[in-house]
Amino acid sequence: MTTDTAAQAAYVVAALLFILSLAGLSQHKTSRSGVVWGIAGMVVALAATVGLASRSITASGLVLIVVATALGAGIGLWRARVVEMTGMPELIAIMHSLVGLAAAFVGWNGYLDVDAELSGSLLGIHHAEVFIGVFIGAVTFTGSVVAYLKLSARINSRPLTLPGKHVLNIGALVAFVGLTVAFVVRPGMGLLIAVTVIALALGAHLVASIGGGDMPVVVSMLNSYSGWAAAASGFLLANNLLIVTGALVGSSGAYLSYIMCKAMNRSFISVIAGGFGTPAAAADDDEHGEHREINAEETAELLRDATSVIITPGYGMAVAQAQYPVAELARKLRDRGVEVRFGIHPVAGRLPGHMNVLLAEANVPYDIVLEMDEINDDFAATSVVLVIGANDTVNPAATDNPSSPIAGMPVLHVWEAANVIVFKRSMAAGYAGVQNPLFFRENTQMLFGDARQRVEDILRGLDSLDAPVREMAGTSR
Ligand code: TAP
Repeated sequence: MTTDTAAQAAYVVAALLFILSLAGLSQHKTSRSGVVWGIAGMVVALAATVGLASRSITASGLVLIVVATALGAGIGLWRARVVEMTGMPELIAIMHSLVGLAAAFVGWNGYLDVDAELSGSLLGIHHAEVFIGVFIGAVTFTGSVVAYLKLSARINSRPLTLPGKHVLNIGALVAFVGLTVAFVVRPGMGLLIAVTVIALALGAHLVASIGGGDMPVVVSMLNSYSGWAAAASGFLLANNLLIVTGALVGSSGAYLSYIMCKAMNRSFISVIAGGFGTPAAAADDDEHGEHREINAEETAELLRDATSVIITPGYGMAVAQAQYPVAELARKLRDRGVEVRFGIHPVAGRLPGHMNVLLAEANVPYDIVLEMDEINDDFAATSVVLVIGANDTVNPAATDNPSSPIAGMPVLHVWEAANVIVFKRSMAAGYAGVQNPLFFRENTQMLFGDARQRVEDILRGLDSLDAPVREMAGTSR
């Protein structure tokens, strides 16, 4: 068997491993094995690629590949070890930017180093691949960098609204199509530089135009773009595995974005076109009135007398790492006969499934963790809702106020419960930068402070409420 045949066979095996990986990652129980399949696929793919390359490169080239692989693997391992769960979306965004940059470089390389054997229509196809690869790669690169800056709060997450922004976006696309035709007919470096600059500007503008609340969709859209960028590189490099893998990432990212748009009641086209057709957000300067506060002991008393409790966690639970005491609280209340369930919003936290991962980590049983649609009708019959570090995902303005920037986004109807306790450190707005009228409702009380510390205080409060009962039981024996 030649090296080429062996490498092609290894590529088929790697592609199958990637498909198994995606299937595994789609469910809690199989997600770990999904990661293992993915790692195995990547090892096979890398080995086959290096094997193929080693046929035609010098010893110093091979050394460079080994050094680059070791360096990349080292940085990857280090970042993966130190990243906080709350920093995952930024990490993912910056990784997408690298895929985009690589695709743009592969495109440029394809222009500078044309295979001398190509001629006629094959040469035309090659030039189109170069141009499209550079365009998708550059859009993905700057789009991901802006997403990284927004997600890590290095720049404001408010949408950028340049005058005529949609005309700018459409103009960039029309220019891309026109320049592609010109490049295929008469390739020239000037045209390639022009499309690179247009694509870099378009990527930055598309993501800068999207508001904070829609960022989850942007992250998965960029995931999809990075897949298409990899597939474009695959065509240029005549690498079947890159085409298959790019298409897998591109289509699964696009489907995830579609699901998230549906969950958030957003138009898919509107979000990927940089907020096209979205009405300008109204300023949130309504007078909301006074809020009421509660302390941990009073909350413990409220919970002692409750018959049913729903816990709705959000980003603040991840920041405070409060999932362990929250799981302990759920256990304690269930032991006392209280019905306890968790209500999970599809975009709570900062990445899809963020809350589910944290609760699984703290061994909360899956059967009491319910999706928003499964639990939204039950709030009205609930004694106490504990909103642990959630804000946008429990904001009634999304349903009541058509001029709110998050209008139309489905939210957890926590305000329908008899009592709502909101755990947060201040009256600050959530990720979308919108004030939350929930905090000023009559049945809502604010429990200020770090969520982990407050939940631990409640656990102690419940213990001290139990202590006299235990002592009385002891003396009556
Ligand atoms: P957010 O609206 O982000 O609000 C989180 C709240 O947690 C903040 O208001 C903050 O208030 C509080 N908090 C922070 N640290 C805390 C701590 N140590 N202890 C107690 N509270 C703390 O949360 P959410 O309801 O989960 O909504 C998620 C938002 O992120 C949505 O707008 C969503 O669109 C966006 N987003 C989601 C994703 C994905 S895929 N899930 C990705 C990107 C963006 P204080 O500062 O007053 O404490």
